[in-house]
Amino acid sequence: MSAQRISATARLPVPHLQLKLSSWRAVRAAVFTLGAGAIHLTVMPQHFQEYPPSGAFFLLSGLAQVGLSAALLFSTERLIAIVGAAGNLTIVALWAVSRTVGLPIGDDPWHPETVGVADAAATILELIAAWNLVRLARRPWRPVPALLRLRIRSALAMVPGLLLTIVGVGAGTGGMPASINMSAPTAPGQAAVPMESLKAALGNEPLLNFALVAELAQIGGQTAWTFNGTVPGPELRVTRGDRLRVTLVNHLPASTTIHWHGVRVSNAEDGVAGVTQDAVSPGATYTYEFVARDAGTFWYHSHQDTANQLTRGLFGALVVQPRQGPLPDRDYALIFHEFPGHPIISPGLQGLAGYIGQAVSGQRVAVNGTIGDLRLQALPGERVRLRLIGALEGEQFGPLMMVAEPLELVAVGSCYQIVAIDGGDLNAPQCIGPERLRLGIGQRYDISFVMPATGTVRILDPRGHESVTLGNGPAPAMPDLKSLPLFDPLGYGRPAPDPVLGHGIDMTYQVVLGEEGGIRNFQPELIHTINGKAAPMGTTYLVRQGQVVRLHIVNETDEFHTMHLHGHDLSVLDREGAAPRGSPLNLDSLLVGPHERWNVAFVADNPGLWMFHCHVLLHAAMGMSAMISYEGVTTPYDLGARSGNLPE
Ligand code: C2O
Ligand code: CU
Repeated sequence: MSAQRISATARLPVPHLQLKLSSWRAVRAAVFTLGAGAIHLTVMPQHFQEYPPSGAFFLLSGLAQVGLSAALLFSTERLIAIVGAAGNLTIVALWAVSRTVGLPIGDDPWHPETVGVADAAATILELIAAWNLVRLARRPWRPVPALLRLRIRSALAMVPGLLLTIVGVGAGTGGMPASINMSAPTAPGQAAVPMESLKAALGNEPLLNFALVAELAQIGGQTAWTFNGTVPGPELRVTRGDRLRVTLVNHLPASTTIHWHGVRVSNAEDGVAGVTQDAVSPGATYTYEFVARDAGTFWYHSHQDTANQLTRGLFGALVVQPRQGPLPDRDYALIFHEFPGHPIISPGLQGLAGYIGQAVSGQRVAVNGTIGDLRLQALPGERVRLRLIGALEGEQFGPLMMVAEPLELVAVGSCYQIVAIDGGDLNAPQCIGPERLRLGIGQRYDISFVMPATGTVRILDPRGHESVTLGNGPAPAMPDLKSLPLFDPLGYGRPAPDPVLGHGIDMTYQVVLGEEGGIRNFQPELIHTINGKAAPMGTTYLVRQGQVVRLHIVNETDEFHTMHLHGHDLSVLDREGAAPRGSPLNLDSLLVGPHERWNVAFVADNPGLWMFHCHVLLHAAMGMSAMISYEGVTTPYDLGARSGNLPE
């Protein structure tokens, strides 16, 4: 029966095809080489965008690998095995150099690249292919007896190759679904509201023009991604009621955006890639325009590939001064951030490797770009306002270094008032002595004090990372920082009516913060969820204009999460059932401790599609991101692999 079938096949127009079919080893080498080629072709477009010669390299090596696998299937030339082994090993060698000392050319010469899942998979495939090819070249070529008599063992040997190819290609696409649209459903009888129509109406506010050029710069021997060549980017200081027109010019090798963190902008100016705009391509420009409605301390940062781009340096301070009232003698905005360089923040295996590296080498914490002690001018008797901005993921600890404990800061040398948190003024803030202030990433604390007659005021991190010194006198007496009490915002200042809480609550939503190990975006990952769902297929909370919405936040994890809502302020109702005993709190970035429960509320008075996410960049990148969407608002933008818009 089978003999008949073989002879039947032999009479096909291309009989030599089967007769010359190579050995099982050659087939195996072909499968592994083809897998590596497929991965190279998948990542090729991305590399073209970053550095065209490297895109060309991936195109050529991918095509060569596809060609080699075809040749291996149908030819028995020993030369092919030798050339194939040499080619694969050359690619592996180049990879090894690029991941250790760095390649001499590229968009970042002589700097090692991080190891990703896609390139690791391709390298393993190439090594196995090369090993098979070397053995093939040394032994007589044994043709496959007959393709129809498939040997189970030989076939099984190719399964790992196929799996590695799937993982590598999946990771190479960024693991993102091709395209997702965040438009909100329209209620029956309701007209759709296009997001682009949600812009601040032109008024006669004073107009201020700024240009922020996103560009590479060498800082401390590292290539940083900067606005206007510095990290942080330039401080934008305006007065309440000003209209800002900010032109973003992108000279980076990747697309980017600017988000105005904490500012209640109109939705179209929110800077979220794939939701409120397309990320701005290399070489392109984009203009944001909004009115600074509230005085306070804010900051701006990229909201495209945020975990990567913010860590590389794309952020800066935005200070809105009040139009009336006394100004302090000195007013400094201080951003506490990771020293820029190669980001080590990314989900999955890569993130894990980065965290271990960070644990070994120690974090490099900086204040306004300075590592060590930042010195600032202030004279005895002067009133000083310090705007402390948290841009630091926090200190990692716990199994797998996955828990980030927020930065703590202590002010010594003078009693001080905490006059505002997240831009919102506190009511009747009393002068307090040294306490540990927790500053989660995204949060802002404004403190105010009078310089002592002699001596300095210092801001210190109890873990000893960084410090700021104001004035020139002798150093103040130093308490034992680690044993100081923790500042509790819920028991500070004096009660006052909260404008939001005067209204009745219209609806309540559950916000359950969770985590579970699993596979996401083709990588093993500690998936971070809101109500069991991870972004970009995350939870959407639908609201209607005018509603007062309560969020019942339950943290089921052992981690801190800074929950940040775009475009709105959250009024604190209670934490663990206890209402604030002091000043009302209107926050945009809520630091939720392990296993804490909070109730907060906001007035839906700013229509649009708004992100609500954990600002610990790694957590957001692992899925902890939701949307608060006004019914009927639609967006023409998509996120996902096809558009290249990746807001986390
Ligand atoms: Cu500071 Cu959604 O960001
Ligand atoms: Cu978090």
